[in-house]
Amino acid sequence: MIELENIEKSYGNTKVLKGINLEINKGEFISVMGSSGSGKSTLLNLVGGMDRPERGRIIIDGENITSYTDEELTLYRRKKVGFIFQFFNLLPNITVFENIMMPLLLNGSEDKKTGLEYIKRVGLEEKQNAYPYQLSGGEQQRVAISRALIHNPEIILADEPTGSLDSETEKKIMELIKQLVEETEKTVILVTHEHYIAEYAGRMLRIKDGIIF
Ligand SMILES: Nc1ncnc2c1ncn2[C@@H]1O[C@H](COP(=O)(O)OP(=O)(O)OP(=O)(O)O)[C@@H](O)[C@H]1O
Ligand SMILES: [Mg+2]
Repeated sequence: MIELENIEKSYGNTKVLKGINLEINKGEFISVMGSSGSGKSTLLNLVGGMDRPERGRIIIDGENITSYTDEELTLYRRKKVGFIFQFFNLLPNITVFENIMMPLLLNGSEDKKTGLEYIKRVGLEEKQNAYPYQLSGGEQQRVAISRALIHNPEIILADEPTGSLDSETEKKIMELIKQLVEETEKTVILVTHEHYIAEYAGRMLRIKDGIIF
């Protein structure tokens, strides 16, 4: 499903990823642990088509996305990928419901029924007309989780999804993510620097000195 072959990525003179090789099966939930600055977000950005490597190939469903044009990469990102971030990245000036609908709108759909279904999945029907600032951190992350899933992407990329939450909310959010990705059979890459968060995954990997092992 996801194959990385010898991925190299530098910023300026610093090589962050020095030859990443990784194969992830469809429906697999993996975690990548590593210290701050080890290249975890860089790796997710490459798999998510938000950036490009200097070397190597990223193969998704048998297609080499590193050879995609910018337009093809944008389409790939919109259709196949759902992102969950540490700081939620909700749009502040639109409601919860409108935030959740955004990936559908970007894909040319205004299917409000699906929007409602996904709000319900994360238990936030009552908050659908609220604005993000009116929600707690945990609630905002639930909005972000339904936004990541609503367009039914094959891949979920989660970058420290509980890094800004208290430990009780953290547990609830991790259990929600695990439950939803399992029931919808998503392929997931979760990055974190916490061992106990990494353990939610079926396979745990580490990134250090630009290499994954
Ligand atoms: N856009 C960028 N321009 C320049 N340097 C960058 C850029 N993005 C990342 N870097 C550098 O690349 C290295 C890896 O960054 P990255 O964000 O991938 O680390 P990370 O493992 O996600 O860290 P954290 O756990 O703190 O989020 C860091 O040294 C960072 O400063
Ligand atoms: Mg990061």
